[in-house]
Amino acid sequence: MKPSTDEEILRLLREHPSTFLSGEVISHHLKVTRTSVWKRVRSLRALGYEIEASRRLGYRLVRSPDLLSPSEVKPILKTKWMGKTIHYFHTIDSTNSEAYQLALRGGREGEVVIAESQRKGRGRLGRHWFSPSFSNLYLSVILRPKIPPYQASLITLMAAVATADAIEKFSGLHPTIKWPNDILLGNCKVAGLLNEIHSEMDRVHFVILGMGVNLNIDGKMFPREIRAVATSLKKEMGKPISRKLFLQVLLKELEDWYEVFLKEGGASVLKAWRGWAQIEGKKVKVTSFGETVVGKAVDVDPYGALILKTGDGEQKRIVAGDVEYDRK
Ligand code: BTN
Repeated sequence: MKPSTDEEILRLLREHPSTFLSGEVISHHLKVTRTSVWKRVRSLRALGYEIEASRRLGYRLVRSPDLLSPSEVKPILKTKWMGKTIHYFHTIDSTNSEAYQLALRGGREGEVVIAESQRKGRGRLGRHWFSPSFSNLYLSVILRPKIPPYQASLITLMAAVATADAIEKFSGLHPTIKWPNDILLGNCKVAGLLNEIHSEMDRVHFVILGMGVNLNIDGKMFPREIRAVATSLKKEMGKPISRKLFLQVLLKELEDWYEVFLKEGGASVLKAWRGWAQIEGKKVKVTSFGETVVGKAVDVDPYGALILKTGDGEQKRIVAGDVEYDRK
């Protein structure tokens, strides 16, 4: 994708951090008039960029806002291939739906969709995902693993491991994973994953990894129904955080873990997942396809399904559903 005029202006200003850059130089580089440079600077200011302007000297970038736009994110990415193409939106129905459509039209592995807010953010099991503006992370990544569909749930576990690793590296806090892929801090959910797959019987065409991470939202801003069970990194760390620095860590972890999965198969992912989840022996209640099963968690199987032992000693294999831990 060709960088926009705004991205190019920001790139030029960043290349000269301590000096002014004249309007003439910028307009010459971008092949646009000086008036249109001035108009773009005004609209960048409206987005929160502090740009000093002097009639004699030109422009100087003083401070950037914490946006997740390509011009903010790309210069700091530490990945080799993931996130090199960013489709960025101020608002969108759902980044997952957008990424899915992109992938159908040939979007490549590693392309990401990021939005500052979602109008119809989607959660697991048909739920809504709370997606207010400029405070959290709403991200979808296109992956094209050469695997059969029965292995796709391992990609979900892989993404949960990468998210837990990223949270720990970024914050020093120790998250846990609740089967299959809720990320908790304490007993409250800080991140959720919605992964969607497009496949034929024996081959996956693509997977959309959808990740929602509560970053800078204040506890009291959560809707009442989830206030007691949701948290954010800001709330847990007691200070506002840089969303773009979190994204930098998350995409690096995701790329690294995905490469481990492709090279070594599911074993390393499962080992790490078990470490974060500590599920063995926990008393759980699972609601799956309208049926509720109570039992003791035994493990996850090689395909990521939850194995439970019920009261009558029977083992059950659960492939999808909602888990509640019994804390008694
Ligand atoms: C869950 O229910 O725990 C999964 C939530 C997943 C939310 C993310 S936000 C980015 C992406 N786009 C969506 O519409 N959903 C996922």
